[in-house]
Amino acid sequence: MSDALLDVVVRTCEVQGGEVLVLELAAAHGQALPRFAAGAHVDLHVAPGVVRQYSLCGDPARANVYRLGVLKDAQSRGGSSAVHAQLQQGATTRISAPRNLFPLVTDAQRSLLIGGGIGITPLIAMAHALYAQGQAFELHYRGRSRSRCAFVEELLAAPFAGHVFTHFSDEGAEQQLNLAQVLGPPAAGTHLYTCGPAGFMDWVIEGARQQGYDAAHIHYEYFQAEVDNSGQGFEVQAVRSGKTVQVLPGQSLLHALRAEGIAVEVSCEQGVCGTCLCDVIEGEPEHRDHYLTDEEKQSNEQIVVCCSRARSARLVLDI
Ligand code: FES
Repeated sequence: MSDALLDVVVRTCEVQGGEVLVLELAAAHGQALPRFAAGAHVDLHVAPGVVRQYSLCGDPARANVYRLGVLKDAQSRGGSSAVHAQLQQGATTRISAPRNLFPLVTDAQRSLLIGGGIGITPLIAMAHALYAQGQAFELHYRGRSRSRCAFVEELLAAPFAGHVFTHFSDEGAEQQLNLAQVLGPPAAGTHLYTCGPAGFMDWVIEGARQQGYDAAHIHYEYFQAEVDNSGQGFEVQAVRSGKTVQVLPGQSLLHALRAEGIAVEVSCEQGVCGTCLCDVIEGEPEHRDHYLTDEEKQSNEQIVVCCSRARSARLVLDI
């Protein structure tokens, strides 16, 4: 994959559900955009030093247009609020090539897509892909209210509308999301994909585990996560910087490094995107991220610096 950024122009923009800016991006100079597979995201370079990840929610078969849905986050640290303010029709910006950390399993017999709120975005691309391939699937969309959710009308009018089920908290009991019923008993060829707020995803994932789903059949992508800095202090030797840093109880490793003038490239600062990944030379990390796989965490070869801590009294990092 190339790290070169792509210049793009906002071809259309529209606010849906009150707070979601739905953007269509095309190449700024008429060149072709790289193809993407369902589940992929791009890094949107909102402003110098402000990079945010957004899932591609359009039809992967639609060449040369990337579609994104950006929720205006009340807690925005300069990302989503700047996107809403700046990315009007005709505006230009820069994005990475698509990256896919949430791919569909190609040989699944049936796919269950369960999205909460803005987490529906990667699942919409998946629905397009599964429908085009003639695969069995259901797309479940849960939100607080129909009027506050984006993409509802187009999903209910899509060619795959017969596969779409909506669940709104302020509507009747009969349409609420009955997770156990939707999941059903685990079947060998069934794969579950979920995306949404952390609490929603934890609920779906735990429900699937309790139902007996194999971990390899549960796929998820966190786009927002709480960072928990509780825990003991520890020492970090930053080898490339030639510095030793004390991380205080309750202080994040990232902030301790920054306080000593050690630059760390970051994006989400929530353990989701992997931008701050760093090699571990010595010591045992306490992984608190949603980026590394369970196997990668067990290997302790890398640490996600923005949210993780140490089990050992000392870590030696290649930073
Ligand atoms: Fe995104 Fe650390 S900056 S995982």
